[in-house]
Amino acid sequence: MTSAITMAEIILALDLPGQSEALKLLDRAPEVRWVKVGPILMTREGPELIRELVRRGLRVFLDLKWHDIPNTVVGAVEAARELGVSLATLHALGGADMMRAAAAAAGNQLSLVAVTVLTSHDAASYGTALGRDEVNVMEEVGRQAGNAIGAGLQGVVCSAREAALVRARIGKDSWIVVPGIRRAGDSAGDQIRTATPAEAVSAGATHLVVGRPILQATEPSAVFREMSDAAR
Ligand code: C5P
Repeated sequence: MTSAITMAEIILALDLPGQSEALKLLDRAPEVRWVKVGPILMTREGPELIRELVRRGLRVFLDLKWHDIPNTVVGAVEAARELGVSLATLHALGGADMMRAAAAAAGNQLSLVAVTVLTSHDAASYGTALGRDEVNVMEEVGRQAGNAIGAGLQGVVCSAREAALVRARIGKDSWIVVPGIRRAGDSAGDQIRTATPAEAVSAGATHLVVGRPILQATEPSAVFREMSDAAR
């Protein structure tokens, strides 16, 4: 299936030790529009950091990967919505009831995307976790992505390698958020399945999560611009 997606947003992953480092970096990259806050920074700095990012006009992706009973996830979704978060993650394996309840609680301003199979799993470790001998990880990603969209979520998070299959499963309007983005020549670090911005977009990505290539750049602003241009 040919994707209708022709461009993607760059989301800067704020994988930094604390609020002051995060805000300093953002001062050096004023073009950034989307930022991702994960469990480490959120646990350290709390909601005041989110409020400050929203005050600065940034769209916040709160990546806490919720997986709990529906009532608890609904409470977390409401708290994120009240903070002005634009995008948040939950686990597709939390089940249809959890995802439907979360989607109903999100309202119009907060989008929810599902994490399917964590990229830290291989077929063997995922099979062990599920109590099954053999798991086709790619098939499982596609199945869970279908469940997420069926439950009313906005999209999924997956690697560029799975993006084309996921796009075929979830149709042209859903979001596909892809981490592991590198320019040719960038260090992969601990990422295994990397893709360039252009490759990820042509596979169907709508949002590209980028951390170290921008965070560690001498000129973060220039790398952000280069990646944004390549994602158009
Ligand atoms: O520094 P780098 O560009 O590799 O950062 C990627 C970001 O995306 C990190 O915040 C990482 O936690 C996140 N992520 C990932 N792989 C996933 C899901 C999230 O790298 N499957």
